[in-house]
Amino acid sequence: MPRKSIPSVLIVIFGASGDLARRKLLPALYHLWREEALPRSLRILGYARTEYSDVVYREEALKSLMEHATEASGEKPDKANFRRFVAQIDYQAGAYDDEAAFAALAKRVADIDAEHNTAGNHLFYLATPPNVFMSITEKLAQAGLAESAAGGWTRLIIEKPFGHDLESARALNQHLHNFFAEDQVFRIDHYLGKETVQNIFVLRFGNGIFEPIWNRNYVDHVQITVAETLGIGERGGYYDRSGALRDMVQNHMMQVMALTAMEPPVGMDAKSIRDQKVNLLRSVQRIAPEDVDRLSVRGQYTGGTIDGKKIKGYLKTPEVEADSTTETFVAWRVGIDNWRWQGVPFYLRTGKALANKLTEVNIVFRKPPLMLVDEGANPLQLPNNVLKLRIQPDEGITLTFDAKKPGPLVEAERVSMDFSYVKAFGAQRAEAYERLILDAILGDSTLFIRHDEVEVAWDRVTALLDGWEAADQQARKEGNAEHLPQYKPGSWGPAAADDLLKRDGRYWRNNDNLGGA
Ligand code: BG6
Repeated sequence: MPRKSIPSVLIVIFGASGDLARRKLLPALYHLWREEALPRSLRILGYARTEYSDVVYREEALKSLMEHATEASGEKPDKANFRRFVAQIDYQAGAYDDEAAFAALAKRVADIDAEHNTAGNHLFYLATPPNVFMSITEKLAQAGLAESAAGGWTRLIIEKPFGHDLESARALNQHLHNFFAEDQVFRIDHYLGKETVQNIFVLRFGNGIFEPIWNRNYVDHVQITVAETLGIGERGGYYDRSGALRDMVQNHMMQVMALTAMEPPVGMDAKSIRDQKVNLLRSVQRIAPEDVDRLSVRGQYTGGTIDGKKIKGYLKTPEVEADSTTETFVAWRVGIDNWRWQGVPFYLRTGKALANKLTEVNIVFRKPPLMLVDEGANPLQLPNNVLKLRIQPDEGITLTFDAKKPGPLVEAERVSMDFSYVKAFGAQRAEAYERLILDAILGDSTLFIRHDEVEVAWDRVTALLDGWEAADQQARKEGNAEHLPQYKPGSWGPAAADDLLKRDGRYWRNNDNLGGA
């Protein structure tokens, strides 16, 4: 589809000296600019507390591009082009809660508008820690920046974490709505910018063969795994207050689940699609405190080695409390109360320091009503058919099924049909942030999270968090030091996670395209 023409814009990045800006945002903006997906009149204004001059910040931006702009593609860094790009960047130092600094920012924005033909369109990107989201948005409004004086549009992109639980997410939504209309607010979840995540939608609703079988009559269960091999590294301060459930499940995994399980939207517009995602999330069972142990598993990794590299146990990580009960692994058996999925569990699992880095969705189909028999009249032990959506790496889709082995006997062997993105479309795909920033500039909110979506996801996650808290308190009362099941780096998590499925007569499909028994 041809894209709409891209409007001129000034992008203000709060947190411009931080990790996200350096690693992801500047490289994404550079790529968009290089591909001429952004207007030549693009201006970027970095804002952060660190005092830099424009010139020094441009040098910093250049360094970030040298390090990160070609990480994914493996191309050689193109310094001359990087230089041309950073010439469009300015910098403004200031605190995030200082009225005078925001007045100065408003003046700077007006000057840039006047000088550079930005059409008065402003995109404010909050790439800061969440504790300053409220003050930034309030100060923007006080400085008159919630609307564009120059007659263009004003939008906000807000990074995760969007709240810490249901209450704080609600408070943040209310706060934002005091100053900005919902259609100005773009809550980003970078998983929705991944091509393979978007393809779940096309796979389901662009093909006739999957629709009839995508339900409780044919699907036995669904597994969604987001596994990472890295530990927490330098992020102990953030992570210890977050944990795997808040860091990965509330946002990325619930989004992948929503796309996998939602009803077809009545239209392709943002409202229709997001309405259906919200409906799906509302159908997710809220876990009761007494079910927490039966339906979820937490874990923490110990010290060990992964790929020959030593990794410190979670509790030894800098800035992590020595007796922390923050989970680095979670598995959760989610039930969905609607007609399509009644009785079909969705098993979600994510963790740090696991055996493999991969994200995938396994749709595991029911077995045939009667099994074929072999020569001795014994039923063949054939595994379920699985449709594996490989979100990353090695992006693609695999359908596994059984075929007759050549020969006189009735013997079956597992085979697969395989679609690979690289083989079909070549290697180059835009990074998630590129697509999402462009959509925000175009005002398309389809791939961003709406206020009610974020709240319903937090509602279900908060119920689980409350259940864990109650279990920990009980354990403390009984004098059992509460401690989480441990797992070795490079494993697939604590044994309890296997038991979660074993109890249901199932097992995890661990990066094994041809499955197990
Ligand atoms: C982030 C989490 O949102 O997603 C990180 O905060 C995690 O902890 C990352 O590592 C995973 O993203 P990706 O794109 O590498 O799967």
